[in-house]
Amino acid sequence: MKLTISAKATLVVAFFMAGLANAAPPDAAAGKAKAQTCFACHGESGISVSADIPNLAAQPSLSITYQLIQFRGQQRKGGAMEILAGALTDQDMRDIAAYYSALPAPLSKSGNSEKIAKGQQIASAQYCNSCHGAQFQGQKHIARLAGQSPEYLITQLKNIRSGARIDMDGTMGSAARGLSDEDIEALAAYAASLN
Ligand code: HEC
Ligand code: HEC
Repeated sequence: MKLTISAKATLVVAFFMAGLANAAPPDAAAGKAKAQTCFACHGESGISVSADIPNLAAQPSLSITYQLIQFRGQQRKGGAMEILAGALTDQDMRDIAAYYSALPAPLSKSGNSEKIAKGQQIASAQYCNSCHGAQFQGQKHIARLAGQSPEYLITQLKNIRSGARIDMDGTMGSAARGLSDEDIEALAAYAASLN
């Protein structure tokens, strides 16, 4: 069952990316106009208004687009995003992603130094950087974690671990499966401390 869902999600992404070849180029200025409804929560600068809402500034554009597709298809739900994304076309998503991805990254956050050091150890032992980037800056369809709100990261890691949030190809699910609550808190503190 899990495999089927992941395979379906992968297919959706594959179709979407195949469609990119013929699409109009992403337009950040148009994206800003289309993102007006998003500003109330994610901020005009891509810095969100509360800890349970993710920062979108400097997120890789493909990661933003992919998550919006997931919400629109109701494969991922939360924060009413599945309703908000329902109104967006593929071109809207690409334009909005171009806008947010070009904004300056969130500042690093201070935190408990022991937790941060422990998080760094776990991250290197688990090769989180091999996908999320050396400084957790994200790449392609893989989210930026650096400077993200730790509360948000903790919720997402727990959701991915339990399967409440699906992931496109199961790789993130297997990365999260072995993590304890303590590990997750340490990893979130470490990620938040980066810029
Ligand atoms: C009412 C507040 C609210 C509004 C308005 C809103 N969002 Fe969100 N958004 C959230 C919350 C909360 C989440 C986290 C959902 C979860 O728990 O999984 C989220 C998640 C996201 C994510 C996933 C980010 C990641 O790192 O995985 C993207 C992308 C996103 N929103 C884009 C948008 C866009 C584009 C708009 C405007 C069309 C928008 N949001 C409007 C609250 C909001
Ligand atoms: C093999 C590649 C890979 C590895 C290794 C990996 N991730 Fe991920 N990660 C992903 C992908 C792909 C996604 C997006 C999943 C989706 O929504 O389909 C993701 C999503 C996430 C998210 C959600 C981000 C957001 O903005 O909502 C967090 C948090 C995260 N990963 C943390 C970690 C941590 C911590 C580790 C190490 C323990 C790790 N990842 C290892 C590929 C990876």
